[in-house]
Amino acid sequence: MTEHSDNTSPPFLDYFRCSLDDDDAQAVLDVLRSGWITTGAKAQAFERAFADYVGARHAVAVNSGTAAMHLALAAARIGPGDEVITTPFTFCATAEVIEYQGALPVLADIERDTFNLDPACIEAAITPRTRALLPVHYAGHPCEMDAIMDLARRHDLRVIEDAAHAVGSAYRGRPIGAIGDVTAFSFYPTKNITTAEGGMATTDDDDLASCMRRLSLHGMSRDAWKRYAAAGSWYYEVTDLGYKYNMPDLLAALGLTQLAKLDRFNEVRARHAAAYHDGLRDLPQLILPRPRAHVRTNWHLYVIAIRPEMLTLDRAARSGDPDGHPPFGPEGPQGPEGQGGRRAAFIEALREAGIGASVHFIPLHLHPHYQRRYGWKPGDHPNAEWAYERVISLPLYPRMTDADVERVIAAVRAIVERHRR
Ligand SMILES: Cc1ncc(COP(=O)(O)O)c(C=O)c1O
Repeated sequence: MTEHSDNTSPPFLDYFRCSLDDDDAQAVLDVLRSGWITTGAKAQAFERAFADYVGARHAVAVNSGTAAMHLALAAARIGPGDEVITTPFTFCATAEVIEYQGALPVLADIERDTFNLDPACIEAAITPRTRALLPVHYAGHPCEMDAIMDLARRHDLRVIEDAAHAVGSAYRGRPIGAIGDVTAFSFYPTKNITTAEGGMATTDDDDLASCMRRLSLHGMSRDAWKRYAAAGSWYYEVTDLGYKYNMPDLLAALGLTQLAKLDRFNEVRARHAAAYHDGLRDLPQLILPRPRAHVRTNWHLYVIAIRPEMLTLDRAARSGDPDGHPPFGPEGPQGPEGQGGRRAAFIEALREAGIGASVHFIPLHLHPHYQRRYGWKPGDHPNAEWAYERVISLPLYPRMTDADVERVIAAVRAIVERHRR
């Protein structure tokens, strides 16, 4: 519900708010009162329910999407000397997990319509050292998995999917989570369902599943639940170098209540996305998302792209980020004087209109760490840079009312009207 604090200015519409209700709170309270708050029966139940939901044999609950991806790479024995191909148009976690394993992240460019990895660019990046592909289902729109799985088969590669955005999405009728070797989901608060922090790795492979499970708790042969429960034994062995990635029952309880509401959440997202489409589609200054016919997107993000050449916003651009630092230095191609400045100014105008927005993502090869470490540089992936200069993620979440969506549409239309060339 949008409340008006006075007659003139409605309150700021946050870019994101999670949907947590009384049933979520009650589930957490029940665990708190049970005396068992870390990994146990709830985590197990959440794993079973999630595996069933995506149609995978196994699900391993962990404490972040990053952990899920890292375990997948570790279980697949990706290590030093190996190359893993992924997208520049992602969150840094996707590349970090490759680096954690001592392997080399190799970037391939994206498609301009879905912003997903372009299978032709993946193929061009394959070398004799390539061991795995790590596609990201950007904004919840599935990647071209037929082409990706075909490349993997032909070159004997593992496919580990970053499905942080894609819980509830499907590719040619198959749920995301049951296609590649391992699929990693995130339950960070901005995601379609949340456990505050959390993640899940799904797989049909018995060996990968048991390895990920063992590595998620210090590489121990027996987890705490099995050691301390009535039927347990105190004895365990450390069989591998593992990590502290297990999901506590306190969070798994949220996972169960949230998962039960996922389809409903995604329906509301789809309704809001349709309203955005209807409300903005006549504006030639904007490129709107158009899901491909053979996929189901969960509408994790609603990402519009501006056509900067049709807008005059650059003069209004003040800064690249809210702290006033232009991204990548004032001379950089994405700085306020470049095309990206118009995108930054559009977001600033939205903020002035009381609406939060965001950018997904700053391409990996534009970040200092990767430039220093791997010599990546602007110009390496033109489509990712093209996208970065144009994209704006509008608010889209189940708590938004239809009136909130109309308010965003009106604000976007007013900015375009004011700044059209
Ligand atoms: C594309 C992508 N991959 C991975 C992650 C990491 O997920 P988590 O924060 O649960 O570790 C995120 C999270 O924001 C993401 O957007």
